Amino acid sequence: MKKRILLTGGAGYIGAHTAVELILQGYDILLIDDFSKSNKALLTGIEKITNKCPSFQEGDCKDSKFLESIFSKNKFDTVIHFAAYKSVKESVQEPLLYYDNNLRSMTELLRAMNNFAVNELIFSSSCTVYGQPDVIPVDETAPFKRAESPYGATKQMCERLLEDVVLAGEKLKVISLRYFNPIGAHPSALIGELPIGVPDNLVPYVTQTAAGLREKLTIFGDDYSTPDGSCLRDFIHVMDLAQAHVSAVEKIDSMPSRNEAFNLGTGEGVSVLGLARKFIEVTGVKLNYEVGPRRPGDIEKVYANPAKAKKLLGWQTKLTLETALADAWRWQKQLA
Ligand code: WQD
Repeated sequence: MKKRILLTGGAGYIGAHTAVELILQGYDILLIDDFSKSNKALLTGIEKITNKCPSFQEGDCKDSKFLESIFSKNKFDTVIHFAAYKSVKESVQEPLLYYDNNLRSMTELLRAMNNFAVNELIFSSSCTVYGQPDVIPVDETAPFKRAESPYGATKQMCERLLEDVVLAGEKLKVISLRYFNPIGAHPSALIGELPIGVPDNLVPYVTQTAAGLREKLTIFGDDYSTPDGSCLRDFIHVMDLAQAHVSAVEKIDSMPSRNEAFNLGTGEGVSVLGLARKFIEVTGVKLNYEVGPRRPGDIEKVYANPAKAKKLLGWQTKLTLETALADAWRWQKQLA
């Protein structure tokens, strides 16, 4: 019998793609989302792809009464916690909003899980917990340096919070998935990234520029000590990322400890300039870009050592940067 799974923030970018994979692989899921940073359109896309209308409840993870109503009506085996604010830039402008939302969502969720004896949690974390690692590619033993933003600090704090709660109890099992740079969209172009306002992240800015919605892409700095001077990142296809969550659901019962973290990346560093040029090569469209000043808070280079996920989750990326960029472009074009 497949597990019953709660996806908090299930109408978001990563949540929706994970929901598709879970449904298609036979899992019984419930999505909750408050739509503060997401859009009901992705629920329609999930239904069109899977031919199943996903079970869904609108509500806020900070609302203990809402969570109690959800947990009292459903017997979950596992929770995947996507619900959080994730803009680095916005977190610098609105730190209190980020600390309150991202931390209180976590503590209220943990209380509800404890009250209803739900003992498996998969947490949406981020490579940002490392800051600028001393050793690249970065593995899970790398220390947490001072986070570059309140957003990153909330991810560090949530992982520490989970460590302490696991230690204080006897049954809770946690897997933290540290995403590198998620990009792309489902190949059907029925779901994808829906940034609110001007995108902070690189790939949606690229596709919006190519679609004529933005005048030009600015490459934030080409004076870093990297091969072409622009920052290096580990761009992972969102469908590979979704599959990693399915693997985590399947393997959480057989982990070496009750609290494990995994880097989810390709293991390869790609430069910002290199991605822009690859986009043009893959899509054949014009992309208006120029080099500008560095963006404050950016780290120079980070990419994953994904060996632990391969060993313990039996997961590794399968999709290429080219595929991710082509899928991102196909999604952007159908938004027009
Ligand atoms: C990538 C690179 C920019 C936009 C953050 C979070 C991470 C995750 C993804 C949530 C950088 C450059 C960008 C542009 C550019 N967050 N860039 N021009 O900062 O690596 O990671 O977002 O899931 O947790 O830390 O991602 O896409 O913003 O930037 O040159 O218009 O692209 O300088 O080097 P980042 P990003």
